[in-house]
Amino acid sequence: MSGKKRTEWFEAFFGGLYGRVLAAQFGTARTVAQARLVRRVLGLRKGQKVLDCPCGQGRLTIPLAKMGLKMAGVDLTGSFVRRARRLARQERLNIRFIQADMRCMDFDAEFDAVVNWFTSIGYSSDEDDLAFCRCACRALKPGGKFLVETMNKSWLLSHFKPRHDGKVAGVCLSNRVRYDAAAGRIRDIYSLSRGSKIERHRVSIRLYTGAEMRTLLTKAGFRDIRLVGHDWKKLHRFTRHSRRLIAVARRPLPSDAAGGLRPPAINRGAR
Ligand SMILES: C[S@@+](CC[C@H](N)C(=O)[O-])C[C@H]1O[C@@H](n2cnc3c(N)ncnc32)[C@H](O)[C@@H]1O
Repeated sequence: MSGKKRTEWFEAFFGGLYGRVLAAQFGTARTVAQARLVRRVLGLRKGQKVLDCPCGQGRLTIPLAKMGLKMAGVDLTGSFVRRARRLARQERLNIRFIQADMRCMDFDAEFDAVVNWFTSIGYSSDEDDLAFCRCACRALKPGGKFLVETMNKSWLLSHFKPRHDGKVAGVCLSNRVRYDAAAGRIRDIYSLSRGSKIERHRVSIRLYTGAEMRTLLTKAGFRDIRLVGHDWKKLHRFTRHSRRLIAVARRPLPSDAAGGLRPPAINRGAR
């Protein structure tokens, strides 16, 4: 067997034509509304340090910085990080954007909050999701909060559509989706084209129920896990009818009971 590392789908997908789709998906007003939702759910105050992870092209990082938060962003896609830096410079905002893999980022007790927004978990193995959540826990100051926003598995399966077609930002997009029940993942085949450029990607995302998300966050060392439902406009009690899931969890304080001092060690050998 060769020692060559297998490329994972998200290494190429976001830097390709889908990057244009993502940039056009939410307009300014919707993005600012999402940033306000993040601030409200986490109860953030001016001057607090927040890590947006992954930050993509700085879509939420920039409006959160404009609200007076000290922002940093991590993303794997080089072109996104470069664009985010450019946009922040244009707005004269001092934001630290870092190109890194969130599954092995190495912050230690730096942030008041870590935000994982818009279906940005579940891309690789369950072990990798756990590794990421442990890194997020370690990145927080004791008592700091972690927010994950993603699809609600229960809603998605009861509204399952195996086919999506459309045109966004000049990109023709066709997506064939199936649910792999054994793995708890959706498996998509994306065909994207713009002019003579044609791309095809196999995408796979782990879905979480509220209970599964709670288990993941507990294993990663978090406590006080709260689940909230939303539909992009309003927050509501989380149920199977919630379109989207928000989980908020807290890094334990030293004064919390057993095991509260540090999140479990990160098993870097697992990757
Ligand atoms: C759906 S986008 C969301 C971006 C941003 N949170 C937003 O709301 O616009 C998912 C992002 O995850 C990034 N990503 C995927 N795998 C990653 C990894 N292992 N480490 C860091 N970033 C990753 C991609 O580059 C992409 O920017």
